[in-house]
Amino acid sequence: MLQGRGDERATNVSVSGPPGATGPIFLELGPRPDEKGQLVRPGARADYPPDVHARLAADAAEIIARYGETSAVPEARSALLPLLHLVQAEDGYLTPAGIEFCATRLGLTGAEVTAVATFYSMYRRNPTGDFHVGVCTNTLCAVMGGDAIAAALEEHLGVGNGDTTADGKITLERIECNAACDFAPVVMVNWEFFDNQTPDSARELVDGLAAGDEVTPTRGAPLCTFRETARILAGFPDTRPGALEAGGGAGDPTVVGLRIARELGMEAPDVAPPPEPAASPDETDQPLADAAPEPSASPTWLSPVLSRYWDDPRSWTLETYRRHDGYLALDKALRMDPDQVIGTVKDSGLRGRGGAGFPTGTKWGFIPQERSPQSDPNAQTKDADGPAPKPHFLVVNADESEPGTCKDMPLILATPHALVEGVIIAAYAIRSSRAFIYLRGEVVPVLRRLQAAVVEAYEAGYLGRDILGSGYDLELVVHAGAGAYICGEETALLDSLEGRRGQPRLRPPFPAVAGLYASPTVVNNVESIASVPPIILRGAQWFRSMGSMESPGFTLYSLSGHVARPGQYEAPLGITLRELLEYSGGVRAGHSLKFWTPGGSSTPLFTADHLDVPLDYEHVAAAGSMLGTKALQIFDETTCVVRAVLRWTEFYEHESCGKCTPCREGTYWLVQILERLEAGDGTEADLEKLLDISDSILGKSFCALGDGATSPIISSIKHFRDEYLAHFELGRCPFDPDRSTLHDAGDCSQVARNNTATGHI
Ligand SMILES: Cc1cc2nc3c(=O)[nH]c(=O)nc-3n(C[C@H](O)[C@H](O)[C@H](O)COP(=O)(O)O)c2cc1C
Ligand code: SF4
Ligand code: FES
Repeated sequence: MLQGRGDERATNVSVSGPPGATGPIFLELGPRPDEKGQLVRPGARADYPPDVHARLAADAAEIIARYGETSAVPEARSALLPLLHLVQAEDGYLTPAGIEFCATRLGLTGAEVTAVATFYSMYRRNPTGDFHVGVCTNTLCAVMGGDAIAAALEEHLGVGNGDTTADGKITLERIECNAACDFAPVVMVNWEFFDNQTPDSARELVDGLAAGDEVTPTRGAPLCTFRETARILAGFPDTRPGALEAGGGAGDPTVVGLRIARELGMEAPDVAPPPEPAASPDETDQPLADAAPEPSASPTWLSPVLSRYWDDPRSWTLETYRRHDGYLALDKALRMDPDQVIGTVKDSGLRGRGGAGFPTGTKWGFIPQERSPQSDPNAQTKDADGPAPKPHFLVVNADESEPGTCKDMPLILATPHALVEGVIIAAYAIRSSRAFIYLRGEVVPVLRRLQAAVVEAYEAGYLGRDILGSGYDLELVVHAGAGAYICGEETALLDSLEGRRGQPRLRPPFPAVAGLYASPTVVNNVESIASVPPIILRGAQWFRSMGSMESPGFTLYSLSGHVARPGQYEAPLGITLRELLEYSGGVRAGHSLKFWTPGGSSTPLFTADHLDVPLDYEHVAAAGSMLGTKALQIFDETTCVVRAVLRWTEFYEHESCGKCTPCREGTYWLVQILERLEAGDGTEADLEKLLDISDSILGKSFCALGDGATSPIISSIKHFRDEYLAHFELGRCPFDPDRSTLHDAGDCSQVARNNTATGHI
């Protein structure tokens, strides 16, 4: 039995359910039900005319040069994902000509390229319309109206999921969480954001597209065609006049926490003015023992640091960044020894913001600290004691796809230079002269801003050779992914960056020893890296003046769902949901809190009983969940927990990379059982079966995706067993899905929510 991303269920199998199953569960004969397209479509072109081939070859050479000096070096294979975007830009989907072209450029076989291409959801196997309309139907959007929008568009356009209208203009698809949950329900057109949609607004949107009107996204540039978008994803900048400026600032939910902090007169301690760079870089730091504060007493203040000028009209530019102390930290860091930089980050206690909370400075310290051949050509030669040291790499994880997580994309969209400066400091600290930012592909406006910031940084002498006259060199490559949640797992990300299917690697060896191209590599989250410049500029003690001993500093909490003012709230670690809801106006008016995720869908659910748990690593763990990515998805009493959990489980089944049996098979069975439970056809034995299968996945899978898949199931049965029982006692779902949406008239309307000053907790 084959399952997992991109695999065909090619064998004819008929399998009954696990022991004790009530009624057999059969696998369909033939191809997977969701595999509509064949890779080799009848009539798809098999080769390119000479002029097209020559043009593509010139583009391909430019792409390959970003990764390897020639296509012969192993690193050149990293060009595969951008090359696939490039050939998709030519045909609107992958043709045999495109596959063959990529294979020839990189010295691969067509089978190798095909194996990679079929792994990623953004590479299409059928001709795509001018406009790819993606409706987010992951849990939060689905509950708040995404399911209704998808159904409305399917009916309005007369097409099914994944299909294209007869005139070839619009391809409709249900998509997974697009890191915009605070703007839910979200529709993406050619991977540009159309926020806060309703069935009516979505119908108007597609009518405008079909009529050829100029359609401008909520955040992003006027739409170009699907093929033109694919070219931007291949790494060629959007050269249309005004494209970079279009869409303006970051959007209301992105800045809501900042605005509230301003209204309430709250700020991070001593944000301005910055201390003068000290003669000795360590002088600004006090001894740690005196400085570590006790957890702050309630109420915890909002403390905008990363978000402190997100509302500046042109926050993304170098000029704005410099006005807010931009690149001062780099200047200071370059006058420190790399080990001192690592020491400061270690002393600050900064913990990784990508989910696991591993201390960032400690991770950097794992990199073998001998000279790297990239930073010192004299270190190239084999020394007497063994082989020459390998180059070091920094890779930024900007794959942000965990449902509910929506902090890194707004951060890059609003202030890309904060990330770029952090990258340069981090790369300098670990003695790396090549860095990569792996950005999920489905966020073209974010890519556009990031590409432009990198160009600006090169032009200003912050990247490239001899940065600020220090003698330090750094090359930075922005690399767009192609749609696969698992590529956020750091070793899967490295495989993907090397031009392979994004499947996790066996550890050890850990990336610090053998990461990208088998060389010592640090992988860090966007927010972790963007937090480094303020720490270097103001010192470890300043950072520790916020948060707690084990969880120091400020962080971005992403509030989404049934709240009056969803958005990004920056606060010291340890703030509670009760406090955040007070700042954000509470649960939407007339409703009450039912359940929430503290750190994205992979973290066990909390309920109203957990409103006062300090949201830091140790307290959330002690309360039975995980802080994860601080993605606080809020669901009120109108939401069916079984439906929510089913939808998340479908996500994990879809995103399972297929490498290990417990996750690949287990997530499939979990979906089968949850589907019948939600429909009211289950039995109490099904609950035990869910727990039993979860037990076979948890701790027994190859990577944490499998563990994460079990979190909503186990925690929901713990807190809401009665609600599961009610489904099969009634023989149907007891909830009206319309009540949880935002698009109904009255108190559920989007307008009503946005105008509500205060709701209930
Ligand atoms: C399935 C899965 C998805 C993940 N997705 C992301 C992601 O999108 N972004 C991220 O920074 N970390 C993600 N992680 C965590 C990374 O593996 C890694 O721990 C993180 O990038 C390290 O950065 P940090 O130390 O700065 O947190 C994911 C982990 C798993 C298991
Ligand atoms: S748990 Fe196994 S199948 Fe699931 S994503 Fe990780 S490696 Fe792939
Ligand atoms: S953007 Fe739809 S659930 Fe996150």
